[in-house]
Amino acid sequence: MCGIVGVLGNHEAAPILVEALKRLEYRGYDSAGIATVNGGTLERRRAVGKLVNLSDLLVHNPLAGKSGIGHTRWATHGAPTVSNAHPHQSGKVAVVHNGIIENFRELREEIVAAGLKIETETDTETVALLTQMHMAQGDDPESAAKKTVARLEGAFAIAFLFDGYDDLMIAARNGPPLAVGYGTGEMFVGSDAIALSPLTDRITYLEDGDIAVVTRTSVAITDAKGKTVTRPIKTIQIESTRIDKGGYKHFMAKEIAEQPGVIQNALNHYLTEDGEIVLPDGGIDFTKIDRLTMVACGTAYLACFTAKYWFERIARLPVEVDVASEFRYREPPISNRTLAIFVSQSGETADTLAALRYCSGKVDTIASIVNVSESSIARESDLALPIYAGVEVGVASTKAFTCQLTVLFLMVLKAARDRGAITSAELADHISALRGLPSVINMALEQNDTVRAAARKLSQARDVLFLGRGQMYPLAHEGALKLKEISYIHAEAYASGELKHGPIALVDDTVPVVVMAPRDSLFEKTVSNMQEVMARKGKVILISDAKGLAEASEGVWASIQMPSVADALAPILYAIPAQLLAYHTAVAKGTDVDQPRNLAKSVTVE
Ligand code: AGP
Repeated sequence: MCGIVGVLGNHEAAPILVEALKRLEYRGYDSAGIATVNGGTLERRRAVGKLVNLSDLLVHNPLAGKSGIGHTRWATHGAPTVSNAHPHQSGKVAVVHNGIIENFRELREEIVAAGLKIETETDTETVALLTQMHMAQGDDPESAAKKTVARLEGAFAIAFLFDGYDDLMIAARNGPPLAVGYGTGEMFVGSDAIALSPLTDRITYLEDGDIAVVTRTSVAITDAKGKTVTRPIKTIQIESTRIDKGGYKHFMAKEIAEQPGVIQNALNHYLTEDGEIVLPDGGIDFTKIDRLTMVACGTAYLACFTAKYWFERIARLPVEVDVASEFRYREPPISNRTLAIFVSQSGETADTLAALRYCSGKVDTIASIVNVSESSIARESDLALPIYAGVEVGVASTKAFTCQLTVLFLMVLKAARDRGAITSAELADHISALRGLPSVINMALEQNDTVRAAARKLSQARDVLFLGRGQMYPLAHEGALKLKEISYIHAEAYASGELKHGPIALVDDTVPVVVMAPRDSLFEKTVSNMQEVMARKGKVILISDAKGLAEASEGVWASIQMPSVADALAPILYAIPAQLLAYHTAVAKGTDVDQPRNLAKSVTVE
């Protein structure tokens, strides 16, 4: 969602804020803005669209001052216009906000009744207006901000800056993450460690309910009850927050190419040389549970959906999978012999976090699989398993997905072994296949040119269908999700056997159908479904291995050859052509691959 940053520095703040916002732009890019205090005077600049528009504006209309706040927006309330862009200012107060103030309508009525004017369509403006109202009634900035925050309902991370105070910034958190960074005679606030990493490696994550009063030399934090608290200062690994394209045209291309290396990383962390699977903190007692509930959003949900096939078939554990935004509202009954697993790249997805909180106290263990180890989801879990994918910048999740699958597969094997569902020989076969995964993924990446050629054809389509059977069915969904999110082509996934129950009505010679079918025990059935498509002039792109293509590629529109791989690992391997297909289609269409329209990398609102 939105990214926020604040600086009380010893150098001009504007360039520092813009640099930090560049690192936060993955959170939203509908508009951007900064405010500074210069010689006691609060001023702001805002621009619609990407950050580069704000940078251009600052060239012609610079902002001086060594204290400032900045924001990059993913619009929730109000269109992406200059007047809705943050910082919002009322009188002597400017604020930047990430989240949603749920009671803003009620607060507005109060504000209007007090004679103040509403000028934007945003929920955030009420925060500035309310604080200004308190200051006009005689409160100092600290008590005005605290009185305002006490009135807010919903999810928020907010930074306040005040006219007349160039050594004061106030930060408040309730939901979305917010960190305070420590410099030498300088202080910072930011949505995450990535934003602050060039400025400092010493940061404190605020807890929900915390308010931090920050000056250049001090931080005073109070908790939700108003009690003064000390939060730990952590040293972050700057290397782990490095962001660059490494010579690639897009972050997504780089992140796709990184997969053999990051999967190897994940394997190194969880697999000993002797082939033992070691989970952190004593792991999980899989003999004590009799079912699993897995919850996530988007691509992370599809990782859970894939893992359901593995857990049920290999570990004989029944699994329920839910999209997080639905999970808690259907109020599922949960037994205390349930292991709940939450999967999230960012570890901050609001729906997933809310689902985790719903399970807290009800289940035996809450485990999470995250890429950001310091995230809220990781911190609120009994057991957090990092995926070691490194920073993922592209909005379309790629390497995080395959690393999530790798870690989930390791969990499946551990559960299967502990529950006696597989023999040690079967376990050894799985482990040896896993060890070979980075190299087969490298081979899959070598198909880049073939995939690009198929993508050129695909880029002309208006609708695309993806088909898969068994464990390839969730992957068909992932292929469709990737394609629609970055190329804007309408894509849907179906279980290949389900097509004839309705969706086949969509098939004609304008509809490409991508079939993901390794030559496994279900291959022949999938091929029959593929024939049904071709009989109706559907254009099939078949992704299979050498054996599968030799048997079934006659008459297809395009074929993409994958190396052969152990059956169970096919969803991880076939994620590569699905990602490349989406990537090259988007490039062929000229869309914004890394920052597709309407999306954001970290979704911290419900
Ligand atoms: C995937 O390409 C997405 N952009 C999106 O679906 C994402 O997976 C989802 O928002 C969940 O995010 P998380 O993994 O950070 O929780």
